[in-house]
Amino acid sequence: MILEVVSQLTETAQAVIYLFRQDDTLKARLASFSNADLLTEDFKAEAKHVHVLYEGSRKVFLIGLGKSPKEADFVKILRSFFYKQKKTLPDTIGLSLIKGGIEFQWVEAIANGCIVGSYDLGLYKTDKSAEFNFFECTPKIQLETAESGIESIIESARIGEMTALTQIRVMDLMNAPSNKKNPLALADWAVESGQKYGYSVAIFDEKKCEKIGLKALVAVSKGSKNPPCFIVMEYTHPQATQKIGLVGKGVTFDTGGISLKQSTNMHYMKSDMGGAAAVLGTIELAAKLQLPVHLIGIIPTTENSIDGLSIKPGDVIGSYSGKSIEVIDTDAEGRLILADGLSYARQNYELDCIVDLATLTGSCVATLGYAAAGLFTNNESLAQSLYESGVQTGEKLWRLPLWDDYKDELKSDVADVKNFHGKPIAGAIVAAKFLEVFVDEHANWAHLDIAGTAFGDSEFGTMKSATAYGVRLLTHWLRRQV
Ligand code: BES
Ligand code: ZN
Ligand code: ZN
Repeated sequence: MILEVVSQLTETAQAVIYLFRQDDTLKARLASFSNADLLTEDFKAEAKHVHVLYEGSRKVFLIGLGKSPKEADFVKILRSFFYKQKKTLPDTIGLSLIKGGIEFQWVEAIANGCIVGSYDLGLYKTDKSAEFNFFECTPKIQLETAESGIESIIESARIGEMTALTQIRVMDLMNAPSNKKNPLALADWAVESGQKYGYSVAIFDEKKCEKIGLKALVAVSKGSKNPPCFIVMEYTHPQATQKIGLVGKGVTFDTGGISLKQSTNMHYMKSDMGGAAAVLGTIELAAKLQLPVHLIGIIPTTENSIDGLSIKPGDVIGSYSGKSIEVIDTDAEGRLILADGLSYARQNYELDCIVDLATLTGSCVATLGYAAAGLFTNNESLAQSLYESGVQTGEKLWRLPLWDDYKDELKSDVADVKNFHGKPIAGAIVAAKFLEVFVDEHANWAHLDIAGTAFGDSEFGTMKSATAYGVRLLTHWLRRQV
């Protein structure tokens, strides 16, 4: 355990953090600090503002939360503080909620932010000691609350910590480059996680994928020496009432194939398994938290690479659904493998709800930027509940339409559907309409296009890196489904 809830900080906490809202109680709350008059001049508790002072030999950090902070603000502010200060923090740090009068409802978010903020991107740096270990390098945190004995507070801290540790594992997977991460590496991750946290994982290798007719997945994989695979995970709980399918795009590197991408920013395409990462993380966390749900996780995973054997523009391929697909653009590969993932989910399980996640289109990034993922759904109450979880967790979603006005864009002259309409308009929507064909009229389906949110700018580095987008969003949503 990194985080411990205490009624009073001990001597071992050589530094202390206090959190303050920017409201009219601020002055009174700061009065207990020495030189309080000067302090109120310097520290206005604006969001992210950090003020340092000393109480005896103890270093004290006052952190501003701004006006009426929400769950997502607590996470963001603590994450950024811990990241920036991590080299200067002592082995044990106190975080007191008492002087700032911070309510217990924020404990989970605070715990989560502190731990994710200790993340280190330097996975492959050689100057680290061989035993580099996240737990040894992360300060222990004593969380001081007025009602430290209350079970629900300890539980919240524990949930925040468990969530963070899974997010960090997901971030490591996302940040791994393609020469350290192929489809079988995703399968290994799932198998190890399933063994550790008690859920079942089946891996279909290339032969099995061919045999059962995952033709679109196999077609996309043709350009790579690394074989594809299909991961099926199942977590259940005796009190589960809902059976929910989660399908994630697992392209471990997307060159575009023969419709080759430009090289600028192509390196970011190691993150084209962001949907898979979100599904892996959510199922691991659901199992750790023993959520009372039944989850089926499905990950078609492959590289989209370029070779003499690659599928070529104009090729017609089959699919698990039996429908034929004309491949106009080999860079629109995500929807091909998801088509098989969705059909497989549909044909082999009676699901109450299906949610797929994919780093699917540049068009979604052009529409919503990096602030929100695209939400497409045929169900109003699912739209509402997912949207709300997005607002609460800060992993935001914004709904885009699935109207049939866009349906004709999928018409192919030679096959049942085509994978790209060849126009520079409505790309994210047409991609979602393509997926809808393979959802086969399931009445409770949502597609999340996370191309702009899975990998982004952050405190962790100078370039884009993993955000673990989807793990907190889906876990929050699942906790409300029971
Ligand atoms: N993996 C990409 C989408 C993507 C773009 C993810 C930017 C993250 C950041 C996807 O496979 C792709 O290449 N989509 C094409 C589709 C087009 C060729 C129809 C796109 O959006 O440009
Ligand atoms: Zn692509
Ligand atoms: Zn892709």
